[in-house]
Amino acid sequence: MFAARRALTGVAQSRAFSASARDLSKVTVLGAAGGIGQPLSLLLKLNPRVTDLALYDIRLAPGVAADISHINTKSKVTGYDPTPSGLAAALKGAEIVLIPAGVPRKPGMTRDDLFNTNASIVRDLAKAAAESAPDANILVISNPVNSTVPIVAEIFKARGVYNPKRLFGVTTLDVVRASRFVSEIKNTDPKDENITVVGGHSGVTIVPLFSQSSHPDLVGNAELLNRVQFGGDEVVKAKDGAGSATLSMAMAGARFAESLLRAAQGEKGVVEPTFVDSPLYKDQGVEFFASKVELGPNGVEKIHEIGKVTGEEQKLLDAAIADLKKNIEKGVAFVAQNP
Ligand code: NAD
Ligand code: LMR
Repeated sequence: MFAARRALTGVAQSRAFSASARDLSKVTVLGAAGGIGQPLSLLLKLNPRVTDLALYDIRLAPGVAADISHINTKSKVTGYDPTPSGLAAALKGAEIVLIPAGVPRKPGMTRDDLFNTNASIVRDLAKAAAESAPDANILVISNPVNSTVPIVAEIFKARGVYNPKRLFGVTTLDVVRASRFVSEIKNTDPKDENITVVGGHSGVTIVPLFSQSSHPDLVGNAELLNRVQFGGDEVVKAKDGAGSATLSMAMAGARFAESLLRAAQGEKGVVEPTFVDSPLYKDQGVEFFASKVELGPNGVEKIHEIGKVTGEEQKLLDAAIADLKKNIEKGVAFVAQNP
C-alpha cells in the first residue's frame, strides 16, 4: 500500500515535473532599454507564461532589469551588459527573442530611411542569435521590418541554422490599429473587430482586407485605409521628433509573444497575422509576406491563403507586392555585401 502510494506519487511528481519543464519559457528582449523595450519588458514580466526574462541593450539593461525585477510576479529577470558574452548569455536557452533594437523615425522619414542604421544592428544581433539561440522564435520589430526580416533569414541561412517556421516580422500593430480604427467608426468594441491585415509593414504594403470583416462596406473608405497604412506616421508626427509608436507597439509585441507561448504550450487555433517566409507570392518573387498564420509548438503551423478579395483590394495587393519585392531584395543584398 505504502509502496503503491509512493509509486503513484512518483508518477504524479514526474508528470508535474515534465509539465512544468515544458512550460519553462525564457524570453529575451534585445533593445530592452528603449522606448518599446521598456514597456514590452514590463508587459512580459506581467505574463505568467514567461518564467525567465532576459534584458539586453547597449545601455541601461541592468537598470531596467533591476527595476522590473521588483514586480511581484514569479519570473526571474536578468539584465545583461553590452558585451559579446553578455549578449550570448541573454540569448542562451531563449524560446522567444524579441528584437526592438534600433533607431525610430522622425517626422518626414520613411521606415526605409532607417535602413542604413538598423540593418547592421539587426544583422549583428541575428549573428549572435544564430550562434547562441539557433532554435528560438525570432520576432523582429526593428524597422524597416520588410527588410530586417530577410536580413535575419540570410544570416541564419549562412550559418546553416535557418528555420523558416521560427522567424516572424511583427505586424501585430497594424492589426491592432485596424481593429481600433474600425471600432471607432462603427461604435463597436474593438475586441470584436478582427480585421485581417496582410502584406508587409510600411505604407502601401499594409493591406487591410475589410471585405473579409463584418464590415465589407468599409472597402473603399479611403480615409480609413490611409489611417491603417499610415498609422505609424500619425504617431511620429504627434511625437514631433521624439520617436515613433512605443506603448501601442509594446502591447502588440507582448500580444504576439503571448500567442506564440499559448501555441507552444499546446493551445490549438492560435492565429496571428505576421510577416513570414511564405509560399503565397513566391511565384512573383516575394519570399516573405504577412498573412494569417496559425501558430504551434514548432512556430509556424499553417500559413492561411489570402482568401477572396474585392477588385479594389486586389489593386492594393498588387501595389504591396511591387514594394515588398524591392524591400526584401534590399535586405538580402545588404547581407550579401556586408556579411
Ligand atoms: P528607441 O531608440 O527608443 O530604442 C531602441 C533601443 O535599441 C535603445 O535602447 C538602444 O540603446 C537599443 N539599441 C541600439 N542598438 C542596439 C544594439 N546593437 N543592441 C542592442 N540594443 C541596441 O527606439 P524604439 O522607439 O524603441 O523603436 C525601436 C525600433 O522599433 C525602431 O526601429 C522602430 O522603427 C521600430 N518599431 C517597429 C514597430 C513595428 O510595428 N514593427 C512599431 C514601432 C517601432
Ligand atoms: C509603426 O507602425 O508605428 C512603426 O513601424 C513605427 C513607425 O516608424 O511608424
